[in-house]
Amino acid sequence: MTHSVRTAVFPVAGLGTRFLPATKSIPKELLPIVDRPLIQYAVDEARAAGIENFVFVTGRGKGAIEDHFDVSYELEETLKARGKTQDLDRLRKLRPGPGEVAYVRQMEPLGLGHAVWCARHVVGNEPFAVLLADELILAERPVLASMIDVHERTGGNVVLVDEVPATETQRYGIIEPGEASGSAIEVVSMVEKPEPSAAPSNLAIVGRYVLTAPIMQILENTAAGTGGEIQLTDALMASLGSQPFHAVRLEAQRFDCGTKSGFVEATIRLALQRDDLRENVQRLVNSLADES
Ligand code: UTP
Repeated sequence: MTHSVRTAVFPVAGLGTRFLPATKSIPKELLPIVDRPLIQYAVDEARAAGIENFVFVTGRGKGAIEDHFDVSYELEETLKARGKTQDLDRLRKLRPGPGEVAYVRQMEPLGLGHAVWCARHVVGNEPFAVLLADELILAERPVLASMIDVHERTGGNVVLVDEVPATETQRYGIIEPGEASGSAIEVVSMVEKPEPSAAPSNLAIVGRYVLTAPIMQILENTAAGTGGEIQLTDALMASLGSQPFHAVRLEAQRFDCGTKSGFVEATIRLALQRDDLRENVQRLVNSLADES
């Protein structure tokens, strides 16, 4: 089936300061949950949602991400010579095919909105998805696929939202919801990182977007906002009125791996879902519970 949304942008040029010193020389997006880097989960999710073009917005020190999605000749030859065909197959399936990957450089980390804008020439005049790898989402059917459905129905911008505790609104863009129809909630307005008292709801935008091409023009004219960064939320706000704008509510497990506690939780929960690890990790979790 051909989707209207074939391109996904993966902004991976941030500094990852919350994970220093781990991220001094290792990109945050390559930190592993059990044995897969965060960015691999996002790429797999996009592919399962029908994405064919993978655009990474990288920066200095992020070269390991390009290596991760490249052929590792020596490693593959060694695995072949040792008869480790299963490992080899698994490794080969991880990467998009030739011509499906593009890398764009964001020379300075001026914000998520700026990172997306840096991909404008590669994206062209088509709707596209944006996935933030530090939001790890586990769903039977990728949430991005449901968002693309809503985009195809409405023709506008679509964001993923999740309910967050009122005390956490200042970490997210928060929407003011309007009418709901099916899985789509109309977005009336939104605020970037509001204090709980100023938050219009507890529905936070969480790392998945389907955007229409005119957002690039809006981003070009978006000034730095909260935190001195060019915010995607501000550009979406400016698009209100000229583009339909909906949110899809998350109905799956989400781990905010941009925070240390979310990262640790993801590691434990994913380990518990693995046949090869469940027993040992469950025993560990039980013994820790007994100790406390
Ligand atoms: P975050 O704000 O979570 O990432 O951005 P960060 O800035 O790297 O992390 P901290 O806050 O310092 O710990 C979400 C995603 O957007 C990318 C990041 O790489 C991350 O994957 N990003 C952010 C960019 O590509 N460019 C930017 O200027 C900012």
